[in-house]
Amino acid sequence: MTTDSARSTEFASWFSEARLGLFLHWGLYALPARHEWVASFERIDGETYARYTDYFDPDLYDPVAWARAAKDAGMKYVVITTKHHEGFCLWDSALTDYTARNTPYGRDLIAPFVEAVRAAGLKVGFYHSLLDWHHPDFPIDGHHPERDAPDVAERNAGRDIARYREYLHGQVRELLTNYGRIDYFFYDFSYADDPHSSIEGGKGPDDWGSSDLLALTRELQPGILVNDRLGIPGDFVTPEQYQPSGPMTVDGSEVLWEACQTLNGSWGYFRDNANIKSPDLLVRMLVDGVSKNGNLLLNVGPTARGTFDPVATASLAAIGEWMRLHSRSIYGAGAAAFAPPPDARYTQRGDRLYLHLFAWPFEHVHLPGLAGRVAYAQLLGDASEIGMREIDPSTPAQNTGMGGQPEGTLTLTLPVRRPDVAVPVIELFLR
Ligand code: GLC
Repeated sequence: MTTDSARSTEFASWFSEARLGLFLHWGLYALPARHEWVASFERIDGETYARYTDYFDPDLYDPVAWARAAKDAGMKYVVITTKHHEGFCLWDSALTDYTARNTPYGRDLIAPFVEAVRAAGLKVGFYHSLLDWHHPDFPIDGHHPERDAPDVAERNAGRDIARYREYLHGQVRELLTNYGRIDYFFYDFSYADDPHSSIEGGKGPDDWGSSDLLALTRELQPGILVNDRLGIPGDFVTPEQYQPSGPMTVDGSEVLWEACQTLNGSWGYFRDNANIKSPDLLVRMLVDGVSKNGNLLLNVGPTARGTFDPVATASLAAIGEWMRLHSRSIYGAGAAAFAPPPDARYTQRGDRLYLHLFAWPFEHVHLPGLAGRVAYAQLLGDASEIGMREIDPSTPAQNTGMGGQPEGTLTLTLPVRRPDVAVPVIELFLR
């Protein structure tokens, strides 16, 4: 019997080493192309929404190209939605007709995905929605697209969550039995009653049968990592669309964590959304997370043709360009034992300390606490030496350039011209 923390150490080393993964939200919602919650936001009734299956035909779907894009971006794992809240299944489920097989495309999308990701040497992850707005036994609640129907009470009368629970467990069994080794599982999500809705119906561990589902998940895939959204503790926690202020803890102990982030605020493909994060910002977010011992799971919402749109493609390429020169400060790195100067983040791996400069100062950067600790310093991007010196704190400031630094401070001399990379990194070899 392994304890949860022993389990995490045993199976999680690839996860902490990896630091960067690709999240993929793909489903019927790629057709309306205005958010994966479009059915709920626009109160689209089930029958109307299901008509998108008549038009779902991702003729350009090429999971080998997706896996290559992820790999070239420096990502080490890829997580795909097997089913989102809409209920549509990307794999050949024997338990429903609401699958990719029953669309003009007519085939399972998950098997070739798993094969391509594996072949690229990346870890395979599944996202699976606990909510299901298509299943006839899933009670209409405050998130459900049909929540404003006049006869909700009558519609709910015949719905039996126990039957839905069986379906949920049965589908998870399919996913974890039929596709070989799966490394990672993202359940989504548990929730309280919606305060803005008159309909009761938060859902959580009792509804999902979470303990049994977690046990089933681990029984079928002993080495799998499972997230925390079953409403009971899993192997890692999942801050969504925000950067935590420091390493994350549960009951005072540090836990594995992974921030999931979007390119533009929406997870599903959203054609007209221009709320786009720049590549520089994305790289800063990655660095910020690693400096706090966290991972970044960055999302792309593929189009209904099966492609990554130009912004997604360019964003991944730009991250890859930065990673090619700087991944040494990311893979297997984590929080450092030193406090960084302003507008900077440290990551550390063994005796290498990495200073990421979010702003480029004029000529000098002062590193408190590092005097006497650094044997050598270089710009990581081109391995060019960076000068360093310790300034006597008793030196009077006037005309000496740099008196007034507190004792123990190491001062680096930077080139005036900022290296043309998303985030410049100085590699410090600690003594
Ligand atoms: C959420 C949303 C969702 C998205 C997910 C990713 O809870 O409901 O649409 O799939 O989080 O973390």
